[in-house]
Amino acid sequence: MEERLQKILSQAGIASRREAERIITEGRVTVNGKAVTELGVKADAARDMITVDGKQVKIGDKRVYILLNKPVGYVTTLKDPQGRPIVTELLKGLNVRVFPVGRLDYNTEGLLLLTNDGEWANRLAHPRHEVDKEYLVRVKGAVAREQILRLENGVELDDGPTAPARVAVTKQSDNNTWISVTIHEGRYRQVRRMCEAVSLSVVRLRRVRYGTLAMGELRIGEYRHLTPYEVTSLVEGEKMKRGATARSRGPAFK
Ligand code: URA
Repeated sequence: MEERLQKILSQAGIASRREAERIITEGRVTVNGKAVTELGVKADAARDMITVDGKQVKIGDKRVYILLNKPVGYVTTLKDPQGRPIVTELLKGLNVRVFPVGRLDYNTEGLLLLTNDGEWANRLAHPRHEVDKEYLVRVKGAVAREQILRLENGVELDDGPTAPARVAVTKQSDNNTWISVTIHEGRYRQVRRMCEAVSLSVVRLRRVRYGTLAMGELRIGEYRHLTPYEVTSLVEGEKMKRGATARSRGPAFK
């Protein structure tokens, strides 16, 4: 995607937008070998070779942390052999390659983190950190106390028993019940399989919290950058803040 050079330079973490303009007018920037001194010039950071003071600009060098409200009907892998839509296609205007932290099923929606910071992603996804993930599950019909207790205590799945979970009924209608399920494991289709194991039929599954981070006001399909506070508290504050939700403080990471 073509964008103004000063925007590309600031997104790459080289300088602020204004400072980047100065760097351009000073003749320190080249695009595909040609010096650029005008401010209106556009380039494609993914395709063009951009240098500042002779050094190549690598847009991916800047750490980026994204919170996406994933819609149903998208896969969280970066390529899909079946050609289904991919979550990164929703990140319009983001010039940096990012990857999802963990996964959500094609039919699951809600809070998905994406980043280009492999170390941060590994810390969050590592089972040792036991990051809580909260899901809102709409199931068919009524839910018995005994089913809740079984989910809470752990159910037997084909890859072993699940760890204790926190489960609560949040809403009920004539046809459906909404339950909140908080787990810290991240096994394949875990919540769906837990529900199946206690004979609950899942109609809708949405992740609403990841560690200290709540989904908040984002509309389905929209994304935002995490704040520096959110980035650090996710990895460092998880144990202390278990059960709490933290919202943005400070300027967003760009
Ligand atoms: N549990 C599931 O069953 N699916 C998800 O996508 C996430 C958790």
